[in-house]
Amino acid sequence: MQKAEVIAKVEKFKTKREVPIKMSSKKTEKELKIEDLPGIGAASAEKLREGGFDTLMSIAVATLGEIVNSAGVTETTARKAIKAARDGMDMGFQSGLELMKKRESIQKIPTGCKNFDTLLAGGVETGAITECFGQYGSGKTQIGQILAVQTILADPEAVAVYIDTENTFRPGRVIQFCQAVGLNSEDVLKNIKVARAFNSDHQMLLAEKVEDLIKEGLKVKLVVVDSLTAHFRAEFVGRGTLAERQQKLNKHMHVLARLAVIHNLAVYVTNQVMSKPDQFFGDPTEAIGGHIVAHNSTYRIYLRRGKKGTRVGKLVDAPDLADDECIFQITENGIEDA
Ligand code: GTP
Ligand code: MG
Repeated sequence: MQKAEVIAKVEKFKTKREVPIKMSSKKTEKELKIEDLPGIGAASAEKLREGGFDTLMSIAVATLGEIVNSAGVTETTARKAIKAARDGMDMGFQSGLELMKKRESIQKIPTGCKNFDTLLAGGVETGAITECFGQYGSGKTQIGQILAVQTILADPEAVAVYIDTENTFRPGRVIQFCQAVGLNSEDVLKNIKVARAFNSDHQMLLAEKVEDLIKEGLKVKLVVVDSLTAHFRAEFVGRGTLAERQQKLNKHMHVLARLAVIHNLAVYVTNQVMSKPDQFFGDPTEAIGGHIVAHNSTYRIYLRRGKKGTRVGKLVDAPDLADDECIFQITENGIEDA
């Protein structure tokens, strides 16, 4: 895509951003209720709802084990229920045109920094996971907090969920970002729900709990997990534990991806890097989490320190954007063009 086109897209998006977010219509889901699924009576349906499986879509994409545990039914019943939910959901092929229409409901949350937003053709996308990885101080946490403020700037009713694993969420910093865009910081802080995750299991549970907030009626449009990998990295040490770690990370990211798609919200995760001592040429660092994190993230941005205190953001993986770089700086107001 040409730079001019990207800029035009950003400008177009800015005006579009005022429009409230519309989920793609789920008519079929309304027509068929959970109770209508074979073998699922009122009691099992209630248990499923309590377990977070409150839509046909959530059942259609669930694993057998999840339905067995949640509803307390046999595997055979769970298999039939999932199949019926899938049939009812019309999960087959769609035409490109239908997909294009669906993508109209996708929103972008900007960072407020022109260079960075241009790199992402508008900002961080709903319905997807965006990952920023890089060394300490590269700006990962700052961007997470800026996105929380920008989410509420775009829609005062929107809620941002911040899963903080490193105790680096700073309300004082959020107040600065609010002042920079003329928002009442108290209103914004009310709409940012922060939870400190003490270990990887806690972190996974918190991600699952986001569904509860949505059920309570909160309009969650952004989920930040900062950092996605730090607990996993600290808890699973040594080669023997690698498989288990990756399995858990995979499950965690699936929960996040499902939240993003089902509720048309943006997921932003941060990730550290490790050094590759055997790398003689190019950048001697590599993101944590290997293929699991790489494959589950829709957009990946590598952040590093540039010249004279600047930061460089490099888009390294995106389904619809060209690999590109941008330069920005972290200031009192947020991130700005350098
Ligand atoms: P780790 O979590 O340690 O891996 O790093 P990170 O990538 O999350 O770093 P973070 O986003 O917290 O960025 C920290 C950097 O932001 C600091 O080193 C400062 O350079 C910059 N920074 C933080 N607060 C301010 C501020 O109020 N003003 C300015 N100008 N810069 C700030
Ligand atoms: Mg950080």
